[in-house]
Amino acid sequence: MKIRNWIIMGLLAVSWIASAVADEVEVKKLIDHNYCNVCHGYGGTTTSELFPQLASQPKEYIATELKEFKDHTRYDENAKRFMWGIASRLNDHDMEALATFYSAQAGVHEGKIKNQAQYDRGQSIYTKGIEDKGVPACMTCHGEKAEGHELIARLGGQNENYLIRQLRAFHASTRETGHVMNFVAGAITDEDLLALAHYLQAQ
Ligand code: HEC
Ligand code: HEC
Repeated sequence: MKIRNWIIMGLLAVSWIASAVADEVEVKKLIDHNYCNVCHGYGGTTTSELFPQLASQPKEYIATELKEFKDHTRYDENAKRFMWGIASRLNDHDMEALATFYSAQAGVHEGKIKNQAQYDRGQSIYTKGIEDKGVPACMTCHGEKAEGHELIARLGGQNENYLIRQLRAFHASTRETGHVMNFVAGAITDEDLLALAHYLQAQ
């Protein structure tokens, strides 16, 4: 290869590294200015039952939820109180940058099995659904390890109480942007919903 080509490649590599560093600085600033760490923990990992884990959520899912907080289509009590104000200050570019950052962080798997019967019931519904009620197996969309994919949320290792609140919101159709989830959770009893949340937090 000619020397000139090597120089061009070298310059391209330097500018690529420089832009990656600039992105990282930009996202850290966004996180600091909006106190994401205070609630969601550093790197999007928290043990609080009020704040959801963000680490390892699919990028497309995170960006979509931020847009829904901003346009007020996700409107349950905690969404309003905690996320509406923050999302109103973010533009599409910020949301993409934050989603890219959190999706790349390693997710936690700290949940413990405290109730074996509940866990087993949750596992059965997650992997097989409830045939006589027309509830589909969650696994077909959310994945074998509840890892999620694109617009489908990661559920594994998520905080139990957060999962319970969301499943109740889908059941009552008060999280309308979840479309498919309103149908899925509509036919689930509160007891089964608790079992699912217990199973999922332990994944
Ligand atoms: C004051 C606390 C607080 C701060 C600060 C905060 N959040 Fe949140 N966030 C919450 C709460 C509470 C929820 C759950 C809302 C609900 O239950 O509907 C949430 C939900 C979310 C969700 C949806 C998660 C899911 O699984 O659906 C995303 C994405 C999110 N926050 C991103 C961020 C980002 C990015 C920042 C910083 C720019 C941030 N949050 C700052 C409290 C906070
Ligand atoms: C047909 C595909 C599909 C099936 C089957 C499905 N889900 Fe979902 N689920 C989704 C999608 C898509 C979302 C994102 C909804 C949104 O954008 O608000 C979601 C979101 C969720 C959330 C919210 C996560 C968060 O971070 O806020 C929970 C909890 C959930 N699903 C649990 C379940 C459970 C439990 C089952 C089985 C009983 C199930 N899902 C079956 C597609 C599916």
